[in-house]
Amino acid sequence: MSIPGYRVQPVQAVRGTLAVPGDKSISHRALMLAGIAEGRTEVSGFLEGEDCLATLDALQVLGVRIQRPAAGRVTIQGAGLQGLRPPAAALQMGNSGTAMRLFTGLLAGQSFQSELVGDASLMQRPMERVALPLRQMGARVDTIAGRPPVRVGGGGRLQSVRYELPVASAQVKSAVLLAGLYAQGLTAVTEPAVTRDHTERMLRSFGVEVSVEGRTTSLTGPARLSATDIAVPGDFSSAAFFIVAGCIAASGTMVLRNVGINPTRTGLLDILRLMGARIRLVDQRMSGAEPVADLHVERAVLRGVEVPRHLVPLAIDEFPALFVAAACAQGTTRVTGAADLRVKESDRIAAMARGLQALGVSVDVLSDGLVVQGGEIGGGTVDSCGDHRIAMAFAMASVRASAAIEIADVANVATSFPGFVELARQAGLGVSPA
Ligand code: S3P
Repeated sequence: MSIPGYRVQPVQAVRGTLAVPGDKSISHRALMLAGIAEGRTEVSGFLEGEDCLATLDALQVLGVRIQRPAAGRVTIQGAGLQGLRPPAAALQMGNSGTAMRLFTGLLAGQSFQSELVGDASLMQRPMERVALPLRQMGARVDTIAGRPPVRVGGGGRLQSVRYELPVASAQVKSAVLLAGLYAQGLTAVTEPAVTRDHTERMLRSFGVEVSVEGRTTSLTGPARLSATDIAVPGDFSSAAFFIVAGCIAASGTMVLRNVGINPTRTGLLDILRLMGARIRLVDQRMSGAEPVADLHVERAVLRGVEVPRHLVPLAIDEFPALFVAAACAQGTTRVTGAADLRVKESDRIAAMARGLQALGVSVDVLSDGLVVQGGEIGGGTVDSCGDHRIAMAFAMASVRASAAIEIADVANVATSFPGFVELARQAGLGVSPA
């Protein structure tokens, strides 16, 4: 069977009112917290992408009863803090770093051992960053030279920890907090820069007291969770592709409805606004613990900028889209302090640099970022390197390209954005499967 790709024809206008699928980070967390809560949780707006379905399957293997009564709806009968059952086989995390790292934290305090595995990309990703603090808590965590398979759990009781994160990572912060639910006493995590806080917000919704002082988040274990209903907002990281398309298109207005605008996620808006973008947040409201809004995006003449470093973790998944915006801007855009992009689903600095160069864009590759010269975008063939966000970013480049763009290896778009092609076509993009 040939590996699927996209062929994207250039278009001038993008427009429409769209609803992107549910938030990936929040969907993972909703399942996991509901799985160890007491009582029945109903989740709506759940992202039925492969990543979150890997989490759902794993929880079922761990003995959690889950039903899917309708599209986007999941009902979870919580097993309670101590109610998970030993898995009969290795837990399959697919392409999902979030699933693997958060499960490592969740399973660290179990009396049984679990093994976590994933696809070829995930098996190459760094796991010591999460193993290290968990070992300090007394957990048994084994990796193979820092990479999966991860073997976790089966040790004694966890001790609480005060841990200072060496890298800004919401996944590591979340893993330590999840393990902290099982430890005796105060577990505190200090991060070097602000990262997404969905775990903290959702733990509070499940009745756990979480305190935040400066960059330190703490909770006291053992902590029981009580079931609650969760409405998952649209994923800002999926909206990001259409936000960029709306900015760089020759004409049209794009409206994206019910998108999560948690300030720990919306660094891209700040960066694009520095570049001159015209984006309005309309009807700002709360969806449970998370803020949402409708985003109205108008075309704009973008200028290159030096991206402020503090915005990097707040836009960490949006750089593929941002680099496309930078290629359409007047002047130079410089991103530094983003070395973690090299250990995402692909090496996103290398993958974006190669793809942009294939389309005639001039870039300078840095160890921790990229310098992009704005100008013309040509047609050509780019390789997504099996990375969903690289594939979708280059689909958006077609809005300004002078000829068709062929994008290879796009199957993993289904990990985060089922229905991407249909929605992109609805917005006027010329995407078709190739
Ligand atoms: C995520 C955190 C980020 C992000 C990933 C999702 C999460 O990873 O890139 O897509 O849900 O916590 P890091 O924690 O490695 O920065």
